[in-house]
Amino acid sequence: MNNGQGEQISGSSVQVDITTVGSDSMSQDPIAVGTIFGDVGTNSFKFAVTGSAERSDYIIAEHPDCGNVLCQIGSIVRKTTMTLDKALEAASNDCTKDKVVATADVIGYKDEKGLLQIPRTTFLAATIVRRADPEFIRKILGLKDDRRSCAYIGMLKGYEMPIMLDINSLVQRHVSILAKTGGGKSYISGDILEELMKHGVTCLIVDPHGEYGAMRHPSDSKDERFGVEPHGYDDNIIEFGMTQIEGVRPLRFTFKSLDSRDILDLLPSSDSKSSLSLLTKAMDAVKERKQLYSIRDVIEELSSNESGKAYSLIADLESIDALGLFAERGNHISELVQKGKTTIFNLKGVAPDIQQIIVRRLGIMMFELRKANRVPPMMMVLEEAHNYCPQNEGTLCKKILTTIASEGRKFGLGLMVISQRPAKIDKNVLSQCGTQIILKVTNPNDLKAITASIEGLTGGMEQDIPGLPIGTAMVVGAGIQTPMLVDVRPRESRHGGASVQILENDNDE
Ligand SMILES: Nc1ncnc2c1ncn2[C@@H]1O[C@H](COP(=O)(O)OP(=O)(O)OP(=O)(O)O)[C@@H](O)[C@H]1O
Ligand SMILES: [Mg+2]
Repeated sequence: MNNGQGEQISGSSVQVDITTVGSDSMSQDPIAVGTIFGDVGTNSFKFAVTGSAERSDYIIAEHPDCGNVLCQIGSIVRKTTMTLDKALEAASNDCTKDKVVATADVIGYKDEKGLLQIPRTTFLAATIVRRADPEFIRKILGLKDDRRSCAYIGMLKGYEMPIMLDINSLVQRHVSILAKTGGGKSYISGDILEELMKHGVTCLIVDPHGEYGAMRHPSDSKDERFGVEPHGYDDNIIEFGMTQIEGVRPLRFTFKSLDSRDILDLLPSSDSKSSLSLLTKAMDAVKERKQLYSIRDVIEELSSNESGKAYSLIADLESIDALGLFAERGNHISELVQKGKTTIFNLKGVAPDIQQIIVRRLGIMMFELRKANRVPPMMMVLEEAHNYCPQNEGTLCKKILTTIASEGRKFGLGLMVISQRPAKIDKNVLSQCGTQIILKVTNPNDLKAITASIEGLTGGMEQDIPGLPIGTAMVVGAGIQTPMLVDVRPRESRHGGASVQILENDNDE
């Protein structure tokens, strides 16, 4: 609840559908939408709807002591005397004389120090309620409007008012993008990446479906409402992968950078103390002979050992060698991370355990290098995050990802976790995300996980999430203090995750 002390906002419910009204006309001539009546509280009140009002609309009510106060329509009810019997009798009943009542939740006003407060006394009955203009909404909610430091992600739903996320807090305080499959997660993450690229932020994308490479190309359409022009990001993108695809460079890690415990972690069956000592001995022997060495050198060294343990270790090492992921000389860090560029790790077709090995190596490398300030501050994007840091299982990369989630902020290493199964992501990771972008989610367990991780999400808003249409996101964080509905802006670059059409439509050109 709001204690009237500062930024905490309560009682507001961000819900669906707001009438589109032009911003200019609103700022000059706010429209009356109703009149307050009945029992009036400090957190909410009812008003008789006399104008155009939809759920989630922002409205202004003048308070006798505090001046204009921003409120939001939480619900609307049409009061009727129609019974079932009467309805059956008069199927063609004229409903236009019905009384419509809306409930508004008080968001607050700015006091003389610029702090958000909610009135401690009530509004007066018979007060006229007007539609809020974008400038007032922006002022009260403290929304940012500076394209130099912010990422433009869309318009406030129903208003011609750009919504901006503060890039510093976006990267420092981590982001989660959650929605059911096909809900638009990759689409909006592409929007954010475009903005990060424009602002010269270094990014690293773990791309299990190989869809982000499409961002090199411009999209097909331009959009006037959002002011978006097609633009490809070829100059900003570097792509690495395990399979041979044009434009994708081979990904190799230096074997020498692993110690025997790291290697043992990667092997399916060898986890005993004796394996560790065998491997350490073999690696020490190889290191004495050679400065640069590969898995083959270690395998050869182990082959000279007669013990049965060595045979199973050799078999495991052979399977790791066959991946071609570890080499005598891997990609140099200056190849993998370039200031202001986005590196895509295309893991399409790579087995899940190998993907985990890669994510673990990348996570450890970036965390250590950031600590030593040897790479620029960056955003690490993790698609299908539930596969890398699941809630109830361990994976090879979970530990480093939890460490980045809890400590990355100190070192300028941001995480953007994207998932269709919020309930299956490690809670410690999800709860560290300071910015949440929620699209359509229907699974009850996923909804519970979302409510648990978002502050300021009221019951009403939770109910709205399953009904969010494609292209509408609920956003909070990075300068947005209370969850807001945003019409997501179209992409400048091509979206690589478009659904595959199964049946051809006869009407298609
Ligand atoms: N804001 C938007 N505007 C227009 N189209 C959109 C928008 N968001 C999503 N779409 C469309 O919806 C489809 C699914 O979007 P997207 O690929 O982002 O879903 P997803 O949540 O990443 O799904 P998955 O879990 O399968 O990866 C795409 O074909 C995309 O074109
Ligand atoms: Mg996707």
